[in-house]
Amino acid sequence: MTNPLQTSSKNPISTMLSSTASTQPATDTTSAFARSVLHGLSQAPKQLSSMYFYDERGDQLFQDIMHMPEYYLMNCELNIFEQQKAQILEAIGLEHFHLLELGAGDGYKTRLLLRYFMEQSVDFEYQPIDISASVLQELELRLREELPALKVHPLPGDYFNVLHEVKETDTTPKVVLFLGANIGNYPQERAVAFLRHLQDELNTGDKLLVGFDLKKDPEVILNAYNDPAGITAAFNLNLLERMNRELGANFNIQDFRHWESYDPVTGATRSFLVSTKAQHVFIKTLNQSFHFEAWEAVNVELSQKYSLSEIEALAADSGFLVEQHFTDDRGYFVDSLWRKL
Ligand code: AVJ
Repeated sequence: MTNPLQTSSKNPISTMLSSTASTQPATDTTSAFARSVLHGLSQAPKQLSSMYFYDERGDQLFQDIMHMPEYYLMNCELNIFEQQKAQILEAIGLEHFHLLELGAGDGYKTRLLLRYFMEQSVDFEYQPIDISASVLQELELRLREELPALKVHPLPGDYFNVLHEVKETDTTPKVVLFLGANIGNYPQERAVAFLRHLQDELNTGDKLLVGFDLKKDPEVILNAYNDPAGITAAFNLNLLERMNRELGANFNIQDFRHWESYDPVTGATRSFLVSTKAQHVFIKTLNQSFHFEAWEAVNVELSQKYSLSEIEALAADSGFLVEQHFTDDRGYFVDSLWRKL
């Protein structure tokens, strides 16, 4: 995934987890960004949305994060797919299906599954869904090179608009992939709303393979979002730089600091940008100045961690039956296979 998660002005919930890679975003994207910034900086406490991390620079930094030794999530999911692809296919148990992926990005991890399904002569078609048509184009080109016999049918658009359209027009059984713990960006109530909506757009018997990062040693979690090289800090601070670039803001990046916290009770892992001094920032596009008190913290990202029982409750609350959990060797991460009731 260029970025695992993504943006649309129409439906922020559905598109939060896909990627926008353009340097020159469309006007409506910019104005959605501006509106989101205005709303967030007018709140107490202030907040900015992590869905805007992923401009060209943010996509790059996220790639760097995924290759850091501390950021275990990527390796966990690769480990699960490498070790358990046969069990995953067996648990899917469908003769013929469409494999839909929400926020496909660069498809790096998914390719492991796709290749295996091809080797097993599974009768399926891959349908990546992403708000960004250019991300899908690149993905399709890469897949045509690497897996020329794979049937790929990209579906550009907002997740739920696309799923709704597919439900009306295609009765083929579906397996939906929502990987990489992208669901962790939603607070739990919104995660339920998202999954219920998803459930509504599926038919009985359709399946969902959804990735969750599990509660574990708090130190392991904190280190993943607090790397000594400062890549995660740069990733978060890029949001301020993006505001400077796209909204004509005058943030002085040196006057903000990245701070990470993990609450082992709730599993909430939060990133903050902290103003190290009292300061005013002017944002040209909004024609407005914002005041930051000394040590005022801005909430920028939630990466929710779950226990297996919380995941099972989430499935039950949203109308799914848990069929099987696939965890990595270390028990850090789970790809959970659910069936719509
Ligand atoms: C892409 C949302 C899964 O929350 O772990 C990585 C994003 N933020 N490091 C995560 C992220 C900081 C990531 N997700």
